[in-house]
Amino acid sequence: MENNYHIPVLLKECIEGLNIKPDGVYVDVTFGGGGHSREILKHLGKDGILIAFDQDPDAQRNKIDDPRFLFVDQNFAFLKNNLRLLGYKQVDGILADLGVSSHQFNEPERGFSTRFESTLDMRMDKQGKLTAADVLNTYTEEKLHRIFGIYGEVKNAKSLARAVATARMNQPITTLAEFKDAIAAHIPKGKENKYMAQVFQALRIEVNAEIDVLENFLLQTADVLHIGGRLVVMSYHSLEDRPVKNFIGKGKIRGEADKDFFGNEEKPYKAITRKAVIADVEELERNSRARSAKLRIGERI
Ligand SMILES: C[S@@+](CC[C@H](N)C(=O)[O-])C[C@H]1O[C@@H](n2cnc3c(N)ncnc32)[C@H](O)[C@@H]1O
Repeated sequence: MENNYHIPVLLKECIEGLNIKPDGVYVDVTFGGGGHSREILKHLGKDGILIAFDQDPDAQRNKIDDPRFLFVDQNFAFLKNNLRLLGYKQVDGILADLGVSSHQFNEPERGFSTRFESTLDMRMDKQGKLTAADVLNTYTEEKLHRIFGIYGEVKNAKSLARAVATARMNQPITTLAEFKDAIAAHIPKGKENKYMAQVFQALRIEVNAEIDVLENFLLQTADVLHIGGRLVVMSYHSLEDRPVKNFIGKGKIRGEADKDFFGNEEKPYKAITRKAVIADVEELERNSRARSAKLRIGERI
């Protein structure tokens, strides 16, 4: 593997969270550079199995040559079906390290970073139908307003959406330079980087349907984990952390936990840590990407 593909975040904590049984079946749904996968394999015996998912074809260059390792080039929204196709109805642990890898972020042509002049793409799955440019050029002004506001928590989302809708009447917005030009008057002075990062986050979440995919995935985990199996999820912003926290804590993505006839909460997981686990100072010094990571662990009950 290229060692600059991605530095794994909270590696030790994720492995401990999985509570690996040497002969168990484990799933890493966000293979990326394979940092977590490689460590999982070290904890498995000869009868253990690791199934890794990644929808980005670039991740395949990191595939691990090991008879215990299986790779699935699919979106983890299709977790249950793919496991079934491989002959595994139930598994012992699932790890998700959400978002994009450093590799995706550092490749100019993928369009994930505001640091490079590039086309507005942002698809993790290169076969995906929707690019960031499609969102900017085809969505209604109202829909753009919602996306910037909810997914990016952009304060002036309404005027930003208006600026996009106005600019594209002259010519489509296809590059970062054209986009910045179109919205220049709305970018707060002195806060350009933070603002553009929020706008990019909003577009990325929309392009990859990240929230729907996450919710879909969380619901499926409860069907495929054995009792006692662990769900370990790492997220990098509150829009992802909230559904993870709710699902592990209450068994519901939204609203209150269901209760049975006797008033006992009916939920698939017991939370293993009361609070999210975060990186320590030593890790933050080594890896700035660990800054916003929040790890939550649930045990299937
Ligand atoms: C943060 S990186 C994972 C890094 C990995 N844990 C490591 O240590 O190298 C996330 C990876 O998951 C992939 N990914 C994100 N969402 C996905 C999804 N819905 N389905 C499949 N893969 C996804 C991305 O393409 C990316 O390679």
